[in-house]
Amino acid sequence: MAAMFTVEHLKKSFETENGTIDVIDDLSLSLEEGRFLCIVGPSGCGKTTLLRILCGLDPPTSGTILINGSPPDPRKQKFGVIFQEESLLPWRNVFNNVKFGQEINKIGASDEIAKKYINLVGLEGFENYFPHQISGGMKKRVAIARALAVDPDIIMMDEPFADLDAQTRWILQKELLSIWSQLKKTAIFITHNVEEAVFLGQYVAVLSKRPAKLKTLINIDLPYPRSRLAAPFISYREKIIDLLREEIPSIS
Ligand SMILES: Nc1ncnc2c1ncn2[C@@H]1O[C@H](COP(=O)(O)OP(=O)(O)OP(=O)(O)O)[C@@H](O)[C@H]1O
Ligand SMILES: [Mg+2]
Repeated sequence: MAAMFTVEHLKKSFETENGTIDVIDDLSLSLEEGRFLCIVGPSGCGKTTLLRILCGLDPPTSGTILINGSPPDPRKQKFGVIFQEESLLPWRNVFNNVKFGQEINKIGASDEIAKKYINLVGLEGFENYFPHQISGGMKKRVAIARALAVDPDIIMMDEPFADLDAQTRWILQKELLSIWSQLKKTAIFITHNVEEAVFLGQYVAVLSKRPAKLKTLINIDLPYPRSRLAAPFISYREKIIDLLREEIPSIS
């Protein structure tokens, strides 16, 4: 199968008051269509920067990125992105937040499609609620529906569940897998939570400390649904924690 995206020798530097900082250096990675990739790496190593480059918001300093054979361009490809920061518009209700994704992607906002994804993430009946009237988990569901309502070629998520309690997080992880298996979208999911990465990903990319490069790409060869208590699950988790420990010696 053709690679859905390929990153080769990616480099990204920023000019700052203190000179040039290299955030990504010689990162190469590829993913086939329809796969679920999780990305883990030390805080500040360059994960969000990588995501911004992949969805065409920031240009690379050098290197090649191809998505279905072309450089990322939000005018030509459809990306469903969930950013690390809270991103719902407080003055729009659930329904109009979901439609906002379609509006900024300039793909003709469709009430029917917005409704379809609101139902898919389990928010039927909450269309008229405003962000301050719904829970943290529901807000994440809105963000997922908004990302999906543009019918993206790839869905990219930057620590979408980081600020949720453990139970809500587990529920949303299961729901996300169920949605992904129905829609067959290529998915990129950044997380700090190694257990979450092993639960969700077909692959887990472990990045090095800044400047980020691919340290190891692990194929999580476990069928879904996965049991967090199964011995192979725990051994993948430990392997990834060991790799991260090499990058962040202060974690014990
Ligand atoms: N526009 C910018 N100008 C200068 N430096 C930047 C810019 N954007 C990011 N950086 C720096 O690049 C590095 C990586 O940032 P990034 O947000 O990609 O890290 P991250 O891996 O997502 O971190 P976290 O896990 O905490 O979310 C940081 O040191 C950050 O200060
Ligand atoms: Mg980040």
